[in-house]
Amino acid sequence: MQTARHVQQLRSSYIREILRAATADGVISLAGGLPAADLFPHALLQEALIKVAGNKQVFQYGETRGYAPLLDHLRVTSDLKTSHGALVTTGSQQGLDLIARTYINPGDHIVLEAPSYLGALQVFTLAQANINTVVQTSNGPALMALEQLFASRSVKLFYAVPDFHNPTGISWSLQTRKDVAKLCQAFNVTLIEDAPYRDLRFSGEHLPLVSSFCPENAMVLRSSSKISAPGLRLGSVTGPEEWIAHLIRVKQTSDLHSSLPMQAVMLEVFTHPEFEAHLRNVRIHYRQRYLALAQAINQHLPPEVSYAEVEGGMFLWLRLAQGDPMEIAKKALEKGVAVVPGDVFYSADDIKSPAIRLNFSYCKPEDLNAAIQLLARVF
Ligand SMILES: Cc1ncc(COP(=O)(O)O)c(C=O)c1O
Repeated sequence: MQTARHVQQLRSSYIREILRAATADGVISLAGGLPAADLFPHALLQEALIKVAGNKQVFQYGETRGYAPLLDHLRVTSDLKTSHGALVTTGSQQGLDLIARTYINPGDHIVLEAPSYLGALQVFTLAQANINTVVQTSNGPALMALEQLFASRSVKLFYAVPDFHNPTGISWSLQTRKDVAKLCQAFNVTLIEDAPYRDLRFSGEHLPLVSSFCPENAMVLRSSSKISAPGLRLGSVTGPEEWIAHLIRVKQTSDLHSSLPMQAVMLEVFTHPEFEAHLRNVRIHYRQRYLALAQAINQHLPPEVSYAEVEGGMFLWLRLAQGDPMEIAKKALEKGVAVVPGDVFYSADDIKSPAIRLNFSYCKPEDLNAAIQLLARVF
């Protein structure tokens, strides 16, 4: 059977191919966006699973919006205004998909940073949005270009990852956060603030959410994937209640609700007295891994490559002075190291600056060092 036209627009995912190759024996993978499995809160999860297994109620059908005690917890921890609501989703990826399906008509103008999260590019492509991009600087999106875009067409939403961006690791400055919020208000553009890496800050100053400066113009996507375990598949969307209410109607047609037992497990883990210590431990290890990667790059790669230092998250964006990132990624794989060529994070019309994305959360410091030595041979 022939697929629908909008599905035919989806590019086959190079990442999927490279990730398959990356799992081969002997390959060190800096390619995936995987959190460290050895740092999952195993003991807390085990305790929670046993406790939840005895709660018959959570094995029944439930409310589409989510498990009420988890929603209450989310309200408090995200400091939600009374006019705002929350929806539990099957990963933040589902939140993104629901927003696109609920609010985007084919041809609607939306804005993304370039480069951008591949999963967002795919969702908005499938929704047949008219994708405009704004170049990312070391402080966040280029503000003049953003203003010009907002002024020149009717933009429905601006999707952004202001904390430890995927793929670049960039975190927006405080001033950029305020300026973007002002622009969204001035041009009545909805900000979709995707914040899965926000709790992974290992240095620098904690900054407010962009949406805290324009709460009536924004929805926030949160995820449990990077702070507990991605296999649980839980995330949330918060925002003005009337917007959330529409998302709930669409989610109902999709999966009725996200797994209730897993929501109950998530709540147990989030409220466990040792959860904060778990998070601190993850940050300490990610910092060590990032420093090991940065040191190996400084030591082994030619001086023409450069990278912006990051203060958290899971990625480092290695800028290349020359060479084709696709070719470099292919040759790296032959040498036994998997990386992602930066080109896949741009939409078709973007001017792509040559780079490769390196993940530092998944491998131990010694493997990161070995991977960079292998990569050095490609250069
Ligand atoms: C920026 C961004 N948003 C959303 C997601 C999806 O996360 P989740 O596991 O919550 O669906 C990812 C996953 O890597 C991501 O990098």
